[in-house]
Amino acid sequence: MTLNAVIFDLDGVITDTAHLHFLAWREVAMEIGITFDEAFNEQLKGISRMDSLQRILRHGGKEGAFDHKQRMALAVKKNELYVQSLASLTQASLLPGIRELLMEIRRANVKIGLASVSLNAPRILHTLGIHAAFDFCADASRIARSKPDPEIFLAACAGLHVRPDEAIGIEDASAGVEAINAAGMLSVGIGPGLGHAGLQLHSTRELTWECLTDFWTSRTVLKRN
Ligand code: BG6
Ligand code: MG
Repeated sequence: MTLNAVIFDLDGVITDTAHLHFLAWREVAMEIGITFDEAFNEQLKGISRMDSLQRILRHGGKEGAFDHKQRMALAVKKNELYVQSLASLTQASLLPGIRELLMEIRRANVKIGLASVSLNAPRILHTLGIHAAFDFCADASRIARSKPDPEIFLAACAGLHVRPDEAIGIEDASAGVEAINAAGMLSVGIGPGLGHAGLQLHSTRELTWECLTDFWTSRTVLKRN
């Protein structure tokens, strides 16, 4: 079986915006008397804006305290803070090795996709100067279910015209790895706590084209035997 596509998550894989999401939510939560730490924040990775708010309210025991209009206002506030913090992003904000990896995948004639549930993804790719590297970016506004549902990875495969079993997905979130596995793709997890990934790496520094092709070959050999 040939590897025909590599599909990336954005926040925490391509650039370190996962931390900026945390800081913005923490500020909004504090204003309504809810505190949470980075350990709880792990549960928000890969989760859409409104679903994240829902989890934060539940964590603070305030699920019933805000009506729809108030929730929308909290989500808008969070996004304003988050977008403000994106001003610090430049073309140098790519995580180590990502620019080289994108170039190598392109050179190998393998398709490149994006599966981020962030509505800010297109703007971030433009700021990072890598928008043109992607053959297809799944449209987060058309996705009904957050990760761990495989919907966004399946949408990326469909947009790239590849079958899930011809593709590798790369994630930093536990829910994201679950989504890749559920889609029937091979999963690569970046960071701790991702033992359910087919391949777990410490950082994007280790995420080379050689490492991906070795992983692909070893897994497809395993499948055949
Ligand atoms: C995901 C992040 O990529 O995007 C989540 O991991 C975030 O933390 C989600 O909530 C939605 O992002 P946005 O930019 O649409 O609020
Ligand atoms: Mg992520």
